[in-house]
Amino acid sequence: MEKVLVTGGAGFLGSHLCDRLVADGCDVLCVDNFFTGAKSNIAHLLSNPYFELMRHDVSFPLYVEIGKIYNLACPASPVHYQHDPVQTTKTSVHGAINMLGLAKRTNATILQASTSEVYGDPEVHPQTEDYWGRVNPIGPRSCYDEGKRCAETLFFDYHRQHQLRIKVVRIFNTYGPRMHPNDGRVVSNFIVQALRGEDITIYGNGEQTRSFCYVDDLIEAMVRMMGSPDELTGPINIGNPNEVTMLELAETVLSLTGSKSTLAYKPLPADDPRQRRPDISLAKSKLVWQPTVSLEDGLRETIAYFRRTLLG
Ligand SMILES: NC(=O)c1ccc[n+]([C@@H]2O[C@H](COP(=O)([O-])OP(=O)(O)OC[C@H]3O[C@@H](n4cnc5c(N)ncnc54)[C@H](O)[C@@H]3O)[C@@H](O)[C@H]2O)c1
Repeated sequence: MEKVLVTGGAGFLGSHLCDRLVADGCDVLCVDNFFTGAKSNIAHLLSNPYFELMRHDVSFPLYVEIGKIYNLACPASPVHYQHDPVQTTKTSVHGAINMLGLAKRTNATILQASTSEVYGDPEVHPQTEDYWGRVNPIGPRSCYDEGKRCAETLFFDYHRQHQLRIKVVRIFNTYGPRMHPNDGRVVSNFIVQALRGEDITIYGNGEQTRSFCYVDDLIEAMVRMMGSPDELTGPINIGNPNEVTMLELAETVLSLTGSKSTLAYKPLPADDPRQRRPDISLAKSKLVWQPTVSLEDGLRETIAYFRRTLLG
């Protein structure tokens, strides 16, 4: 059986990836320090003999025998990554060095969960992989953005210098069941506020757009990327190019939840991008992949999850 390591495997995306890999017949080692992850996300896998959980912080070296590594460990939402910004950079940079060192020692293929944040507040729309980005190196989001950029640098240097088999995916906003209820991300915020009957917070005038990818689509792309030919290193954008304004999203959530919440407007936070949308031409041609789950269907699943966990 193929031995696969998922770092950050108890988190939102990581737990769905563990589900998928176990279902595909892999022998999965999930490593997590539970900074933002939760045992409840993977509790249903613990009795499976082909799933193993290890509490470990990736900013320290790890010695295990492994054939493939998915490196997802890193807090992903601003409230979490700004809570301890120094640790966020350490997780990205030291974590990348440690996991790349492990891949080198075990001759494993390694995939990095990078982010659309490497493009910063972009001057070009939609963003293609050859765009170098516009990132503030000293702002409150920099620990995450620059940490992820440095991790990409390390991946490509290990590839050039040590011929490591690397795969880098740049993930755009993804949502679905097991998102954190209090992480400040817009989809979970709106759903939680709607279900609790609280005001829905709109930053700025609500005309800024985002594009949202459902978690199942994202996981499919990651697995395809890992299985792609060695020459395909990425970086490769993964996300849903369908743009919606924050006002449209709020209205969809209100109608799907049947909530009576009203909209409350607040000022835009620092460095918040006005628009973000992936160009996924490369993923379409190289991975033969594109999102298949509509926003309404994905929101329905996510709302059902939050109803179960928040309202019992
Ligand atoms: N969800 C998105 O929309 C999105 C977008 C772009 C990139 N990403 C990337 O995907 C990955 C997973 O994101 P997510 O949304 O599942 O976030 P998440 O916070 O739910 O998951 C991150 C996981 O990493 C763990 N972790 C954090 N620091 C660690 C450390 N030092 N050692 C070991 N484990 C550690 C956390 O406990 C958590 O389980 C992250 O690398 C993130 O940057 C996610």
